[in-house]
Amino acid sequence: MKLNFISPCLLGIESAIASELKDMGATDINAENGRVLFSGDERLIARANIWSRFSERILISLGSFTATSFEELFEGTKNLPWESFIGKNDAFPVKGYCLNSKLFAVSSCQSIIKKAVVERLKDKYKVPWFAETGPLYQIHFSIMKDKVTLSIDTSGSGLHKRGYRPVSTIAPIKETLAAALCHFAKLKHYHTLYDPMCGSGTVIVEGALLANNIAPGLSRQFTAMTWNNLDRRLWQEEKERAKDLVKTDTDFFAYGSDIDPDAINIAQQSLKRAGLEHFTSLKVADLKDFSPTTERGTLITNPPYGERLLDVAEAKEIYKVMGRVFEPKHGWSYNIITSDEDFPEYFGRKPDKNRKLYNGMIQCRYYMYFKD
Ligand SMILES: C[S@@+](CC[C@H](N)C(=O)[O-])C[C@H]1O[C@@H](n2cnc3c(N)ncnc32)[C@H](O)[C@@H]1O
Repeated sequence: MKLNFISPCLLGIESAIASELKDMGATDINAENGRVLFSGDERLIARANIWSRFSERILISLGSFTATSFEELFEGTKNLPWESFIGKNDAFPVKGYCLNSKLFAVSSCQSIIKKAVVERLKDKYKVPWFAETGPLYQIHFSIMKDKVTLSIDTSGSGLHKRGYRPVSTIAPIKETLAAALCHFAKLKHYHTLYDPMCGSGTVIVEGALLANNIAPGLSRQFTAMTWNNLDRRLWQEEKERAKDLVKTDTDFFAYGSDIDPDAINIAQQSLKRAGLEHFTSLKVADLKDFSPTTERGTLITNPPYGERLLDVAEAKEIYKVMGRVFEPKHGWSYNIITSDEDFPEYFGRKPDKNRKLYNGMIQCRYYMYFKD
């Protein structure tokens, strides 16, 4: 059966998702602002959940229509084939958001959609009410500029929850964004990765997963694993396939450091949980003493911006230190994400490329200084 999917994501990383989906065999890939649409069969539900490094979740799209009144919202929702997915005993709560639309009351839209799905399923299953004691089919709606899109979530908790992070430091970067930084920096299995302000080690872990072709969702659970109408063998087969695809002969190594011993402690726990300690080395160190000994390196870092950590003046001092210790030399690339538009001025060099990305709600730039 051909299914249409939606992968919501952080703004700026749509192209990374389009590229990973292509590798997974998805078709009709269409990157929009903050989401990527694609198609595939039922196997892709398992594959995309297990493999996506950059998506927030994988939704099955039921359909889209325009609605400017509750009547239109009700009718449009009722016309969609909910019974193709939701069984007689399944649970189907509704959540979503409205943006720049005539219909703006989220809780009212939520109850209209719920009522419409109930009506549709009552007709189909010939029952007066639903106990909803079965597996979860979380319905998502978005109403943007009067266009309603309805979907069912296959992931459960967000895909950034890989399961390796024990507790957070003050300002951890989202796993999906850290993975995208590694993708845009073209991190490879024969590279040496550095993050000298590694905090809880997210860039180091995501870099090691990517370089060794380890699927980020290999050891977690997804909602659609509980669905009765989806062959459970697909999950097993896709997990086996993912295990076979892990690169076992890489030269990859990663060095992480941070001035904060507590952060290094957390990073160590994350690496242990992810089973990646043998690819990595962590230590407590001040950025100003950064003096790598390897000939080549791919440095990816998320320094303080002066927003959540340190003040702006202190952050700018750090950018100056970075400019001094990140020497332009053959075989080295430096990749830095920050919200400070004046970063290149303090760093002292113009980037070869920069990319607009969002770290949560904070608009950032990813400054890239390429290898010679
Ligand atoms: C935005 S956080 C990095 C978060 C990290 N990417 C993560 O996911 O947890 C910035 C880090 O820079 C570290 N830091 C600040 N000043 C530093 C310095 N002079 N030398 C090394 N690390 C420093 C902080 O301790 C903090 O962990």
